[in-house]
Amino acid sequence: MIQMYHVYMSYGSDSPGLIDVSLRIEKAEFAFITGPSGAGKTSLLRVIMLAERSQNGQILLFGKNVANIKEKERTLFRRHMGVVFQDFKLLPSRTVEQNVAISLEVLGKGRGEIRKKVGEVLELVGLEHRAHRLPPTLSGGEQQRVAIARAIVNDPQILMADEPTGNLDQALSEEIGVLLNRINARGSTVVVATHDTAWIQRTQHRVIHLEKGRVVSGGMPLG
Ligand SMILES: Nc1ncnc2c1ncn2[C@@H]1O[C@H](COP(=O)(O)OP(=O)(O)OP(=O)(O)O)[C@@H](O)[C@H]1O
Ligand SMILES: [Mg+2]
Repeated sequence: MIQMYHVYMSYGSDSPGLIDVSLRIEKAEFAFITGPSGAGKTSLLRVIMLAERSQNGQILLFGKNVANIKEKERTLFRRHMGVVFQDFKLLPSRTVEQNVAISLEVLGKGRGEIRKKVGEVLELVGLEHRAHRLPPTLSGGEQQRVAIARAIVNDPQILMADEPTGNLDQALSEEIGVLLNRINARGSTVVVATHDTAWIQRTQHRVIHLEKGRVVSGGMPLG
């Protein structure tokens, strides 16, 4: 699903983003990316979501080499990837339902289909009763669940989350963990960057450990 071979990405001479990164994440796998602050976790996710270009090496998404693809093709690849950020990035003046519907509207889906799909994912994240609220009136955990609903409404093959529990307390973090497991069990590949060692230890998922831009362990699938 995601393959990287000897990938280098740099923001400039004093800032090595990724150095000689090789890894493979299989279809329907759940993988954590961990490591100290500045290790390159966000950089790695940004390279996979095609928001950042690598300078060297080979990257395959869904078996296709994406190193030199054009902007238009990048957009098509991105449609198969859902992304969740630590700070939610919800539109504060749009309702929960509207926030979730946006990516389907962009794709030109019909109103009936949008309503059905948005209802389904809000139910999956347990927020049907919040559909008409504005994000600022929700708790942090609820806002993060809206962000997850928005990321999966399009049925992406890969769901990526960057510190999705970074702003949440223990109980809400566990809820988000359960929800991501459920999404993974429905067949999505899930990749999560996190410092949350308690979360990692609660699961059996693979852990890709980065340090100073390099993969130090866990780059290849178990077994
Ligand atoms: N836009 C940028 N411009 C220049 N350097 C950057 C940029 N983004 C990240 N870096 C540098 O790249 C390195 C990796 O950063 P990255 O954000 O990927 O780390 P991280 O593992 O996600 O850290 P954190 O746990 O703090 O989120 C750091 O040295 C950082 O300073
Ligand atoms: Mg980061």
